[in-house]
Order: sequence, then C-alpha cells, then structure tokens
Amino acid sequence: MTPETEKIYDRALEVLRENDRGSYTVPTKGLYPFQWNWDSCLTALGQSHYDEARAWTEIETLLAHQWPDGMVPHIVFHAHSDGYFPGPDVWGTDRPVATSGITQPPVAGFAVRRLFDRARDREAAAQRARALLPRVDAWHRWFYEKRDPSGEGLAAILHPWESGRDNSIDWDEAFDRVPTDGVAPYVRRDTQHADPAHRPTKAQYDRYLWLVQLFRSLGWDNARLHDASPFRVVDPGFNAILIRSATDLAALADELGEHEIAEANRARAARGLAALESLWSARHGQYLCRDRVTGQLIESASIGGILPVFSAVPRQRAQDVARTIERWAERVRFIVPSHDPFDPRFEPKRYWRAPAWLVMNYMIQDGLRAVGETAVADHIVRSSLELITHSGFAEYYDPLTGEPCGGGRFTWTAAMVIEFLEAA
Ligand code: DGY
Repeated sequence: MTPETEKIYDRALEVLRENDRGSYTVPTKGLYPFQWNWDSCLTALGQSHYDEARAWTEIETLLAHQWPDGMVPHIVFHAHSDGYFPGPDVWGTDRPVATSGITQPPVAGFAVRRLFDRARDREAAAQRARALLPRVDAWHRWFYEKRDPSGEGLAAILHPWESGRDNSIDWDEAFDRVPTDGVAPYVRRDTQHADPAHRPTKAQYDRYLWLVQLFRSLGWDNARLHDASPFRVVDPGFNAILIRSATDLAALADELGEHEIAEANRARAARGLAALESLWSARHGQYLCRDRVTGQLIESASIGGILPVFSAVPRQRAQDVARTIERWAERVRFIVPSHDPFDPRFEPKRYWRAPAWLVMNYMIQDGLRAVGETAVADHIVRSSLELITHSGFAEYYDPLTGEPCGGGRFTWTAAMVIEFLEAA
C-alpha cells in the first residue's frame, strides 16, 4: 500500500469502528440506526481483515433473528431510536426482538463462504460456519417456496425495499399499480438526515407504506403475501445474489461434510441460472426485470441487469455485460451508475435512479474477474477508490460529478474499500 492508500484504509477502519454496536453494525448514524440485512453481511467482509471473530458475530446476530418460516428480515430493531421511519410500531411483526416483515438480497451465503475461505483460525471458522449453514439453507429454501410458488426457478420481490434498490426506475411501472388510499398519516425521518433531492419521493413512500399495511393486515403470512401483492417483480440482480449464495453455500457445505445441504443448493443454483436466461435482452446487452403480474419484461436497463455477472452466467453473457459497462462509461465519469446513463429517466443524485454504489461495484468486479474481464473489473475498482479520495465514505455518489449523496460515514462503503485495498 502507498502512504495515500494507507491513509484511506485507516479512515475506513475508523468508520467501521464508529458504527460498530458490539454485535452488529449500523449502516450509518442517524439515517439508519439499526441492523440491516445485506449491509451486515457485506460489512462482515471488511471486518474479517482486522477482527475475524467480530466478522462472524455480525452475520450470527442477523441470523439469530430469522423467522420460524426461514425468512431473514431486512431490519432488526435491536435498540430504540426515534430517528427512523417506519419503526417497529408500523411493521407490527410479532417477534421477540422487533424486525421488519420483508427480506433483502440474500448475500449471506456468499459472505459466509468468503469468511470461511480466508479464515486464519480454521477451527473457529469451521465451527461457526457449520452452525450458520442450516440457517442460510432454510432462508434459501424459503425463497423458492414462498417467492416462487409456481416453480419458475426465480424468486420475486414483493416490495421495492426487498431489492435493496428502493426507488429504481425498474419498479416505476409496476409500482403505479400500488394504490395509496388508506395510508395512515406519517412523518418521514430520512429527509431530516439526508437531502430530500437524494431520496425517494413522497408518492413512492405512500406506496411503500401501503404495501407494508397490506402485508401487516395479512398477518405477515408468507403463504399469502405473494399472490396478494399487487407488486411482484423478478429482479435479475436479486436472483443472481441468491444463485451465487446457493452456489457458495453448496461448496462450503461439501467442505464441511453436509452433503444434503450442498445438493439442495446446487440444484437451486442450477435451476436459477437456467431460468435467468429468460431475462436476457440482446437489445440492451444485459438482463431485465420481469413483472410477474403481467408476465412482461420491464424496459428499464439498470444495474439490476448488470449484477448477474456475480453468478456463473454463461461467459458470453458476462462479456456482453462488460461491453455494456464500457458503453455506459463513455457517458459518466465514475462507474458503475445504477441506471443506464443514456436513458432520459436517469437522475444522477437520486438514490438508486443513477448513483454509483460501492457494494454493487464490488460484486460486479468480482464476477467480471472470474470470467477474465480484468480490464473492466480494474476500471471499476479504480473508479471506486477515486470516489473515496474525492468525496469520502458516502452512501452513494453522483456518477457524473462524484458528489457524495445520501448518508455520510457509511459502513458498507468503508467495508468495500478495505476489501478493494486488501486485494490490491
Ligand atoms: C430506507 O429506509 O431507505 C431503507 O432503504 C429501507 O430499507
């Protein structure tokens, strides 16, 4: 490391330590004061470089709050805070420690395998990974049972928050179908912590809450939610994460002698990969979402359709996606924007409607490296580190100017920087 990168590394450590609450890490102070699902799993990767035991704890804490049906919730409300909306009273889930009632991209299987592979304390790693295996497996099973009831091989999200890409352009059309009548009056807290111009709109929040109210009125019964939801979308990025996690969990289970778990996850990954093919768009050179209510592909070229390179898609597909990223790079200064910059709907500062996110960059470059697209992968890492040097550890960045957007001193951004610098 150069003195310059050492300084960046130390600043990343500082952010991670500042947001550490002992057994879990908040994404950032103020805006997100609890534990978020995929934030934690990706954060554990950064933690593993300086405190392996602490990294395992991060994922164990999350999975300790798994629901009896297998779902792992997207937020665990460990401690009281008035600073976030919607809090536990809005979700109304019946859990020993309050949680939300929806899930998030299942990156745990990938993270657990990576922690295991790099562990210096092999014995502790085997013990901790073995204990997590059945939990992650149950979560994967839940997706295919509850979010793919007709056995397509792909899981649907029922709420934009599940995708992690809350206000992506991908959801606009399907989201229009969600009504807003009867939403209880509410006060947003996110816009008190972050610039409202960087956040979702009021019309989107009304719909987010309408769905929460619907699911709550159905008792959070996952046997009913899929068919009852007017918003059911198959997101290629979300499914790619699930497929990658299933593949990684299978490899890990084999190593630990848990062959049944290995077999089940290999089969899930194989079916998922075959089904992903139906989402390919030659016109866009990437994958697209499918609206499961209408059965139509959604004409929206976002990072959700770039992310499948994180799973073992056919080499030609991954190469085509790499060319698409190169094309996008001609339009923006920093890659990878979360939406096609040639699309007139591109909004450079608004959350998931264009900004660049380091976690996405991390997963995309990982997948591209695996198929030998090293030049594009290196470009993505370079862009990520330039953003940090320019603008600090923001939640996300304007891909045209590099301006920091959303929350500051952001945990998973710092974790990804440690990952990038450790690999350099
Ligand atoms: C938020 O509150 O913005 C989150 O993304 C929902 O999980």
